[in-house]
Amino acid sequence: MEASRKLTCRQRQVHFSFFLLGLSLVNAGELRHYSVVEEREGRSFVTNLVNDLGLGQLEFSSRGAKVVSKGNKLRLQLDQETGDLLLTEKVDREELCGHTEPCLLRFQVLLDNPLDIFQADLQITDINDHSPAFLDKEIMLTISESSLPGATFPLKNAQDMDVGQNGIDSYLVSSNPYFHVLTRKRSDGKKYPELVLDRALDREEQAELRLTLTAQDGGSPTRSGTTEVHIEVLDFNDNAPQFEELLYRVQIPEDSPIGFLITTVSATDKDIGVNGQISYSLFQASDDISKTFSIHPLTGEVRLKEQLDFEKTQSYEVNIEARDAGTFSGKCTILTQVVDVNDHTPEITLSAFTNPIPENLPETMVAVFTVSDLDSGENGKITCSIQDDLPFFLRPSGENFYTLLTQKPLDRETTAEYNITITVTDLGTPRLTTQHTITVQVSDVNDNAPAFTQTSYTLFVQENNSPALHIGTISATDSDSGSNARITYSLLPAHDSQLTLDSLISINADNGQLFALRALDYEALQTFKFLVGATDQGSPALSSQALVRVLVLDANDNAPFVLYPLQNASAPCTELLPRAAEPGYLVSKVVAVDRDSGQNSWLSFQLLKATEPGLFSVWAHNGEVRTSRLLSERDAPKHRLLLLVKDNGDPPRSASVILHVLLVDGFSQPYLPLPEAAHEPAQDDDALTLYLVIALASVSSLFLLSVLLFVGVRLCRRARPASLGGCSVPEGHFPGHLVDVGRAGTLSQSYPYEVRLMGDSGTDEFKFLKPILPNFQDHPLGSETGEISNCRNDWDFGIQLK
Ligand SMILES: *[C@@H]1O[C@H](CO)[C@@H](O)[C@H](O)[C@H]1NC(C)=O
Ligand SMILES: *[C@@H]1O[C@H](CO)[C@@H](O)[C@H](O)[C@H]1NC(C)=O
Repeated sequence: MEASRKLTCRQRQVHFSFFLLGLSLVNAGELRHYSVVEEREGRSFVTNLVNDLGLGQLEFSSRGAKVVSKGNKLRLQLDQETGDLLLTEKVDREELCGHTEPCLLRFQVLLDNPLDIFQADLQITDINDHSPAFLDKEIMLTISESSLPGATFPLKNAQDMDVGQNGIDSYLVSSNPYFHVLTRKRSDGKKYPELVLDRALDREEQAELRLTLTAQDGGSPTRSGTTEVHIEVLDFNDNAPQFEELLYRVQIPEDSPIGFLITTVSATDKDIGVNGQISYSLFQASDDISKTFSIHPLTGEVRLKEQLDFEKTQSYEVNIEARDAGTFSGKCTILTQVVDVNDHTPEITLSAFTNPIPENLPETMVAVFTVSDLDSGENGKITCSIQDDLPFFLRPSGENFYTLLTQKPLDRETTAEYNITITVTDLGTPRLTTQHTITVQVSDVNDNAPAFTQTSYTLFVQENNSPALHIGTISATDSDSGSNARITYSLLPAHDSQLTLDSLISINADNGQLFALRALDYEALQTFKFLVGATDQGSPALSSQALVRVLVLDANDNAPFVLYPLQNASAPCTELLPRAAEPGYLVSKVVAVDRDSGQNSWLSFQLLKATEPGLFSVWAHNGEVRTSRLLSERDAPKHRLLLLVKDNGDPPRSASVILHVLLVDGFSQPYLPLPEAAHEPAQDDDALTLYLVIALASVSSLFLLSVLLFVGVRLCRRARPASLGGCSVPEGHFPGHLVDVGRAGTLSQSYPYEVRLMGDSGTDEFKFLKPILPNFQDHPLGSETGEISNCRNDWDFGIQLK
């Protein structure tokens, strides 16, 4: 036996198997069953083999019974005497058999003499000595909130070492509204729990659940084990985004810049993650709105994309959509009110404009215009004005219509052009103003007659002028314009029909130049007057006239003409001189005239030649020939004097006078020893007498005429004292040696004469006329000469006869 124990285990088993095979042949079919409960402390009785085998105690003990167990797992002890089989130590069924049930341990009882082998099983029965246990302390489970009620979620089963009745019997779950648990049995008999959804989950209500899962065995008393089930509810896109407000009201000034933040919309989604990601967009936006507004898809900022214009659109309704990743969306509306800003300047539109406007018209329409402002309210109200100082006014005619009118007749000659500035201002803040200037021309009407630069013209022409001499220019102006101011000059028909003006004067119709057509003769025509006309070319034409007085200036073109003594070679004049004459005796007086006037007619006398020089002297200024000394018997009876009469012209003109003087002894006895008389026919004396008579008659008639004239002039003067001014003192002093013989127009009537009558005594002087003008009395010339023959007035003259 000892030796066999030393054999290896396998050899021993083989050996033992053969051995048993031999024995079993003996006792085949006879297997005894025993059972013992596990975990029994101390020795536990299994059976009494003496009784079981039916052997007597002696026999049993003598046959050397042995118990052999496979693998010696069982600590069995056999009492050789009594045959009791005992288990010497506590056995653990789970250790010996695990989950194998029933747990049978085979052993053999060997008897010698003869060898008998009995087979026996020892069954170790289970007790509930283990609790169910879950492998994991916590079971993680994710369930979508979209799972429908009735959905099942199998869970891992719990373990229990015990078997059979003592194994896991059922599962329980802590009380909750969503789940109950079912205990399911797998094909291998193991039981596992299965969660069944009773009610739909809502992540938004409860995002996770913690349940306690309990596994119970069927032992008595029951044992249990628990684990925690952590259920995470998976989000399902079951919520639509929701805006904080459904209607946003905003007001934006129309001048807000592009990019202006109008408002920020905000929506929330109860879902999480992708399902809660919101993107904003314009909803069903018209072209206008999508052009004008933009929204940031993530932030929800609504901004201006385009300039607003209140005048185009006053409000916008912008619909916004918020959409999550799924199919859900929310809507809101932004009511955008555009606020008017005074951003439009008023405008002026001329619809009618009359230019030029004729002058002299009463209230006349000049322009019609409309004003407009695109703004609204106060911003669009307009006031309209023009300058105050213009003769125009505005008349409102209809809405925003104005008529510009003249206030009164205009005068082109005062103002030919007006700049009218129309100012329109709206009432917004700040005020906006537009100005428009129209220039109105005033057109001419022929309302002004030509006006001469002078009311009368006095032209001076030197006589003996060359024909077609330009003697002066008249000129007129016309304040009209164009043809209304184009002036034509003309000569008007003379009132004096005697004056043949056409032969005297011509006028240049264009420039008013006057020409003397022929040479003028002062002695024939000293002055003449005529009217000139100036006519414009307006329609109707206007004209005016002016007086032109032409004064012909004297030229020294006439030599002095000797009136006395008559200068005729055939009948020389002889003065008689008494031999008894005192010195200073007036022998004769030379009377001469000059048809010229003024200086040209101032005459001076001088003795050129005498047969007896020193006997006679001539007073230069009056032509008196006087004796210078006493006469004596020695003096020749006949004397011939050559005198010169010279005027004061430049150059002077002169005439010579031959004077014969015959000395006589006493006036009553004229000594006439004239040789000429001897051979002169008697007719000569008759002729001389006739001349003297004629001279005397003419002097007498002159005198009479002079008296009449004098009286007439006196009367005339008394009536018109003012006309005294017409007669003026000549400029400068009269040369002492000159005699003015007058410059009257009617020459023949104004020549001063001094006639000494034959036979007159030297003392027979008489004065017909006193000096006419008192002021000439004081005149040095007048007082010196005692003779006045100087007067500017045509009618004033003086005659002194001696
Ligand atoms: C009107 O305006 C024009 C242009 O500015 C100017 O030449 C003209 O002198 C003005 N006329 C008057 C009457 O002010
Ligand atoms: C002057 O003399 C001429 C002749 O020489 C004569 O014909 C004439 O009549 C005379 N004149 C006067 C006024 O005697």
